[in-house]
Amino acid sequence: MKAMKVNLEGKTVRSYEIHIGTEILDRMGMIIAMNRWAERYVLVTDENVGALHGERVQAALEKAGLQVDRIAVAPGEASKGVPTLLTLTDRLTALGADRQTALIALGGGVVGDLTGFAASIYLRGIPVIQLPTTLLAQVDSSIGGKTGVDTAAGKNLLGTFNQPKGVFIDIAFLRTLPDEMFRSGLAEVIKYGIIESPGLLDDLEGAVASGGLRETAFLERIIATACRIKKEIVELDEQDRGLRRILNFGHTVGHAVEAASGYALSHGESVAIGMVAAARLSERLHGLPAGDAARITALIRSVGLPDRIPAEMDLEDIISRLSLDKKKEGGTIHFVMIRKLGTPFVNGGIPEEILRDALKGLKP
Ligand code: GLY
Repeated sequence: MKAMKVNLEGKTVRSYEIHIGTEILDRMGMIIAMNRWAERYVLVTDENVGALHGERVQAALEKAGLQVDRIAVAPGEASKGVPTLLTLTDRLTALGADRQTALIALGGGVVGDLTGFAASIYLRGIPVIQLPTTLLAQVDSSIGGKTGVDTAAGKNLLGTFNQPKGVFIDIAFLRTLPDEMFRSGLAEVIKYGIIESPGLLDDLEGAVASGGLRETAFLERIIATACRIKKEIVELDEQDRGLRRILNFGHTVGHAVEAASGYALSHGESVAIGMVAAARLSERLHGLPAGDAARITALIRSVGLPDRIPAEMDLEDIISRLSLDKKKEGGTIHFVMIRKLGTPFVNGGIPEEILRDALKGLKP
């Protein structure tokens, strides 16, 4: 098992470790017991993940001498909202959870964000530990302390920065992850390669060629690289005031496409389309070599992610959703662009006509 520390500026008590390995639940139990982050723990999961892994995780924690209760919320994005948040906090109260209680989020991005948010507000804040079970959560949402729930007006409109006490990434969870969800996580891994590590792209291309995308050693390696990149960015810009925006490469168009599809496209599929758009715009506006844009597109396609906007989707709907973002961001849509692989920057806005043209080029 590897560990890396997320060092937060001048505040060592908030710094924490990300542990990465395969079959690490027993070690996790011992580390949590040793750190004594709380006197009792509540494992928060969803009904699907709970059925697959809940008992095993609870048993590993109890074996380490910890007192553990378990709460399962309904699976799916709909649980990332205020009603489920209140149900969760009510259930914590019913269990007698107090300020000596910590939450352990066992699941994907929805469970991680919801549990992190609940922990940041329950009794004015109790500790949270992240135990991500999807590739997307292992390489992105479990690290960096962003929490939140959606409201009718938009995604993540309520949220906090609430760093976990620790993150435990067990590759063994990925064995039961459906292909579609696995691909969704791969989109974020490709993103890290584009913004920071062309070597990661080489590694991904090699695994595609050898058919080894789901091999344990490969996964341990790419997850560790992704976590290192993310934690280094979070260390420099915990509160998302500038640099952290580079993690949104492909996400500006991606979020608009995801919403315009009525969430029929997954986050990863939408970000994949958004990354192709960002690569093409980088080529047109910022001199990204055509070969690099073509390489990004080919890799996205080769892992089974879409590189085109579905024929039935309305471009103007996507553009108008981007304009909504523009209002929220204070007049400019911030696009993350690259001049070459590994050198991202945030540009000062793209004229709508150029954007429309680029999106037209992504229609089949
Ligand atoms: N997922 C983007 C961030 O954590 O900032």
